[in-house]
Amino acid sequence: MHPSLTSSRVAIVSGKGGVGKTTIAAALAKAAAAQGKRVLLLEVEGRNSLAPLFGIPSLGYPEHVVAPNLSAESVVPDEALVEYLYMFYGIKRIGKALAHTKATEFATNIAPGLRDILLIGKVKEAERRRVREAYAFDLVVLDAPPTGRLPRFLDAPRAVADLVRAGPIRTQAHGVLDMITDPARSAVVLVTLPEEMPVQETVESIATLRRMGVAVGPVVVNRVAAEPFTKTVERSLISDARKAIARAMEKAGVAAPAATLERLAAVAAASARRTRNQRAVMTELEADIDRPMISVPALLSPTVGPAEVDFLASVLSDSGAIS
Ligand SMILES: Nc1ncnc2c1ncn2[C@@H]1O[C@H](COP(=O)(O)OP(=O)(O)OP(=O)(O)O)[C@@H](O)[C@H]1O
Ligand SMILES: [Mg+2]
Repeated sequence: MHPSLTSSRVAIVSGKGGVGKTTIAAALAKAAAAQGKRVLLLEVEGRNSLAPLFGIPSLGYPEHVVAPNLSAESVVPDEALVEYLYMFYGIKRIGKALAHTKATEFATNIAPGLRDILLIGKVKEAERRRVREAYAFDLVVLDAPPTGRLPRFLDAPRAVADLVRAGPIRTQAHGVLDMITDPARSAVVLVTLPEEMPVQETVESIATLRRMGVAVGPVVVNRVAAEPFTKTVERSLISDARKAIARAMEKAGVAAPAATLERLAAVAAASARRTRNQRAVMTELEADIDRPMISVPALLSPTVGPAEVDFLASVLSDSGAIS
């Protein structure tokens, strides 16, 4: 299966909390932009996590250019509501009035689904936006809520459509629903770590998303550690690390105090166990899902900034996942 992350016009990047959704969304957007696609990168959690990855303090509103071919925006429900009212009713002045009355807070509190539909409605608007005859963006990348909240987020249009019998809100809800259930227009890209818990969550969310009629693209396995040992060495380190290290040092003609040997053995054994476990988990994941997998290496740098994102973007490009 060809592992394309860009086979749909919208890539909804999700995964368990902390697995690297924001990092991978940024890398994917940058990689696609570097290949000449016009890309819009959106975040909807209002946590300002994308900006530092582009070396800027915060993302403004509306979207602005953060790299060649690449615009980014942090979508907030207030502005989305104002934009939405403007789109449907052509009223711009209401924006200021709303800000004063806190109407959006009121509206989104009484109908939580409304908040989500405003956010995802913005994604749909960007996906459909046209400049003259052509689409404004070839690809919209969404740094989406984590998998635990994703079904509710994506189901908001259905909930709202059920609630509202007629009018522009219902039309909007159906428009969004059409987008998220059309594999040519949107697919979820799940990010995971090569560890038991996130892998299990990935397998479960693939099933949930499919039941909802949402397409699932390739799975990105992030922070895959390099395997430092051959399988034979790995086995001997796991069965008796102390002996294996002692033998290796003797062969190299190096002597070390017992305490050093002990510590080296502990570190080597832990590393061997981690990579064996990682391999086992990835094999299990591959067997459980009939989705292509893309491995992204664990970076050793203490922080991830623009340079690291560029590197990860080149990894995604080299994997052939951007077409
Ligand atoms: N390949 C990688 N190598 C090393 N560190 C990474 C890698 N990918 C992500 N990280 C780091 O892991 C942490 C979590 O990443 P990120 O913020 O992208 O995850 P997230 O899934 O968006 O988290 P949240 O659920 O909080 O939104 C960050 O500190 C990030 O710099
Ligand atoms: Mg994030």
